[in-house]
Amino acid sequence: MPRLAQPEKLDSLDATDPDAQASRRDLVKINRWMGNFAWFEKILDRQCSGWKHFLEMGAGGGELAMRLIQKSRCATYTAVDRMPMPENWPQSARWHQGDLFQYTEYTTAEVLLANLVLHHFDDNELSRIGDLIQQSSIAKIVVNEPCRRSFHKFQLRAGKLIGFNHITLYDGSVSIDAGFRANELPELLGLATTRWHWRIEETLMGAYRMIAERA
Ligand SMILES: C[S@@+](CC[C@H](N)C(=O)[O-])C[C@H]1O[C@@H](n2cnc3c(N)ncnc32)[C@H](O)[C@@H]1O
Repeated sequence: MPRLAQPEKLDSLDATDPDAQASRRDLVKINRWMGNFAWFEKILDRQCSGWKHFLEMGAGGGELAMRLIQKSRCATYTAVDRMPMPENWPQSARWHQGDLFQYTEYTTAEVLLANLVLHHFDDNELSRIGDLIQQSSIAKIVVNEPCRRSFHKFQLRAGKLIGFNHITLYDGSVSIDAGFRANELPELLGLATTRWHWRIEETLMGAYRMIAERA
């Protein structure tokens, strides 16, 4: 199926809306089932120990960040999201509330992290994000996104049985339609094969994972 990026309902809800809060709780469960946080931890531990400056795009409720800050040996961890800073955000880390396209400090980051964020953007926006990366000091990109396979919509529907919120079910389906396959993400970001090496993995639980490094 061709890729289709459409607006997600959660993005238009106020952070205090009960549906938004329920959907964010579902997202924590989805991250657990997909093994996303554990995967980031493993990659940071095995492949990023030499890097010190981390930037996370679309950090949401900060759950991944807080786990990684505790376990990694990073010198700086900055999170960028439209959402306000989480209440229990650690003092050692920075939270920038705003649009990632307006963020101006990509030049201080070494490792870019993104979990379930890049699928929000259409092809033009992904190309703009690619430009921001090219012009930055980012040398490593670690990304986890939805894999665009219809099979994962059946898995999502099972979430209905355990009480997933209607926003989660709608946005989950939209997210799968906007997900990636094979080399699509590095190509949409405009990562040139002469300058970047990457590895892509697609999992049974619906994750599309990319680790890219400057050559
Ligand atoms: C599906 S949520 C994922 C949140 C978190 N990474 C997680 O896995 O729980 C996508 C996040 O991207 C953020 N986001 C989407 N577009 C953004 C933009 N243009 N600038 C900053 N943040 C954005 C949203 O506010 C939301 O928190």
